[in-house]
Amino acid sequence: MTDENPLLKQAISLSGDPDAIRKFYADWAETYDVDLLQTIGYVGPRIAAEALVKRLPKTALVLDAGCGTGLVGSELISRNSALTIDGIDLTPAMLEYSRSRGTYRNLSQADMMGSLSGIDDNIYDGIVSAGVFTNGHVGPEGIDELLRIAKPGAPIVLTVRDSAWEADGFKATVEQLEQDGKTRTLEITHCPYHTKEDVYCELVVLEVV
Ligand SMILES: C[S@@+](CC[C@H](N)C(=O)[O-])C[C@H]1O[C@@H](n2cnc3c(N)ncnc32)[C@H](O)[C@@H]1O
Repeated sequence: MTDENPLLKQAISLSGDPDAIRKFYADWAETYDVDLLQTIGYVGPRIAAEALVKRLPKTALVLDAGCGTGLVGSELISRNSALTIDGIDLTPAMLEYSRSRGTYRNLSQADMMGSLSGIDDNIYDGIVSAGVFTNGHVGPEGIDELLRIAKPGAPIVLTVRDSAWEADGFKATVEQLEQDGKTRTLEITHCPYHTKEDVYCELVVLEVV
């Protein structure tokens, strides 16, 4: 194991400021895939896609929330080529890389810390978000809008970096959602996240009630 990559250290210090996040990821977009997959052994997209695909029917409409350069879309489509995948992200430069993959139906810019007002209620059969619910990015308040746009019974798969899980209120929010009867928690698994560093995440699977 090596020390945490300096870019990743910077990423988790962004304090949720949308302008800072957009600039940071615009500067990083070109080398993001190589830096994450090869240098740190990032497996968020793979574990999240696996967890979602096994809970979906063959044909399903899926949202990749915080799609970045489209790593999750590629993991989804390699497991089930019949899926229809939309993506949203805050950073236009990252969305351009997703667009170039040709795996997404619609891609649009959206801030997951606010209202996803361009998306109707109850339309997605499943939602996945890898690498977004983490320190300095999107907090647990971002989950509510995902519940609104997912169909009842839809699985919602999130990776939550373990440094944010309790400290940023994700654990408490997931427990509260279940107590309030809004979700059923199907899985919370502590997993390696950056396999070449000592960084873990919680793989969280919720079902919308
Ligand atoms: C670490 S990348 C993860 C990208 C992709 N899901 C993956 O696993 O490779 C984090 C992404 O979250 C996006 N992001 C950060 N804050 C956001 C927000 N408030 N709303 C939507 N996207 C956001 C960034 O633009 C960036 O593309």
